[in-house]
Amino acid sequence: MANNISSPQNGNAPIYANIIGWGMAVPETRLTNEDLEAILDTSDEWIRSRTGIHERRIASEKETTASLGLKAAQQALSVTNLVPSTLDMVIVATCTPDYRFPSTASLIQNSLGASQAGAFDLSAACSGFVYAIQMAAQAIRSGSIKTALVIGSETMSRVLDWQDRGTSILFGDGAGAVILQASEEVGGVLSAVLRSDGAGADLLGIPAIPNYVTGDRKLNKMYMIGRDVFKFATRVIHESVIESVEAAGITLADVALIIPHQANDRILQSAARSLNVDRERFMTNLDRYGNTSAASIPIALYEAVQTGRIKEGDYIVFVGFGGGLSWGAIVIQWRVPRPAEVHSSRIAKQRRQFSYLRARVRGRWKYWRRRLRMLVNRVRPNYGRIYRLRSKIDEYDFEDDE
Ligand SMILES: CC(C)(COP(=O)(O)OP(=O)(O)OC[C@H]1O[C@@H](n2cnc3c(N)ncnc32)[C@H](O)[C@@H]1OP(=O)(O)O)[C@@H](O)C(=O)NCCC(=O)NCCS
Repeated sequence: MANNISSPQNGNAPIYANIIGWGMAVPETRLTNEDLEAILDTSDEWIRSRTGIHERRIASEKETTASLGLKAAQQALSVTNLVPSTLDMVIVATCTPDYRFPSTASLIQNSLGASQAGAFDLSAACSGFVYAIQMAAQAIRSGSIKTALVIGSETMSRVLDWQDRGTSILFGDGAGAVILQASEEVGGVLSAVLRSDGAGADLLGIPAIPNYVTGDRKLNKMYMIGRDVFKFATRVIHESVIESVEAAGITLADVALIIPHQANDRILQSAARSLNVDRERFMTNLDRYGNTSAASIPIALYEAVQTGRIKEGDYIVFVGFGGGLSWGAIVIQWRVPRPAEVHSSRIAKQRRQFSYLRARVRGRWKYWRRRLRMLVNRVRPNYGRIYRLRSKIDEYDFEDDE
């Protein structure tokens, strides 16, 4: 699937889906290559030379895909004037959700107090963020929604086989988020290429049922055939970047920055060579975070914006690839001023804080009300004061009265 938005839809002026907010969150705990030397038959030198990775972040027991995603989302909202109740959709790209259901997106939607938003998780492994951006952009451009929160969040450390030196050295935990909003100003997501080849399922995956646990594979742990994935990655980066740039009606020379999924520095070097693009135009931060799967592109985007590598009007390309096999690229024209010029009003800030607090109180209230109701029902459901107490509990529903 490849498309662009150069022509007006239904005879109306086109609607553009611009990125207006960005955020990231990573756990405090660092795991360096030297730390890995203590638990695996590996070396800092081997890891650095084969991957470019120096260290990665590892979630604490209390941190989850949802809690990291929530922090990144709050940061993305903090550079806008939006309050959570204006969000229409929350998408979380992840392959390490907290639950099979409810979705991680629903958990985050609730914690934000995004009372008007639909929410779902999107599973496309390391390509997930690119897929999710395109889904949100399509919904915005069709006119069905105005504002979407798109998050890539992962706790890869929980699905790694820590005895497997071929995979455990590569991955880390983290989250990144963006806010997309409808606009009449030309820009935002200009084109997208999304692809998949399920025949490559054997190369990279996490078995979730015993049927797929064969050979060295372990239930709920990642397996990978590194060499084949390497070749696949360099090929699809080249193809999808070229195709998405053509679909956007620009040339590779017009692109200011390519933000690739941060898998391996050698993959990125090889892709830059084959595209004949200066290595400087490829954003990299994997030395500090490793491969954070669906979170790696929004984390790299956040750092690129904050360090001034993206200016208003720039064309940038996101390119993702990974399990599925799946891959995709999108071209974006950046339409926000430099971070220093982006301000969120104090009122918006206070309203957001209130929304987060209210969401917490509401969540606790719902929980305790359920427990109280159960208790009261067990005592004497129809007896005088207790009956009135139960009706009062039922009456106050804390429904969305904003
Ligand atoms: C994983 C990867 C770094 C391995 O590098 P490689 O050059 O292909 O290495 P190989 O798997 O062929 O292994 C070469 C040797 O190094 C060894 N080795 C593997 N991992 C090692 C480690 N962490 N430390 C030290 N030695 C290691 C192997 O056992 C092998 O030894 P042998 O020759 O004695 O059998 C590389 O294949 C890669 O980056 N692939 C892409 C992975 C990726 O990005 N996946 C995510 C995509 S979303």
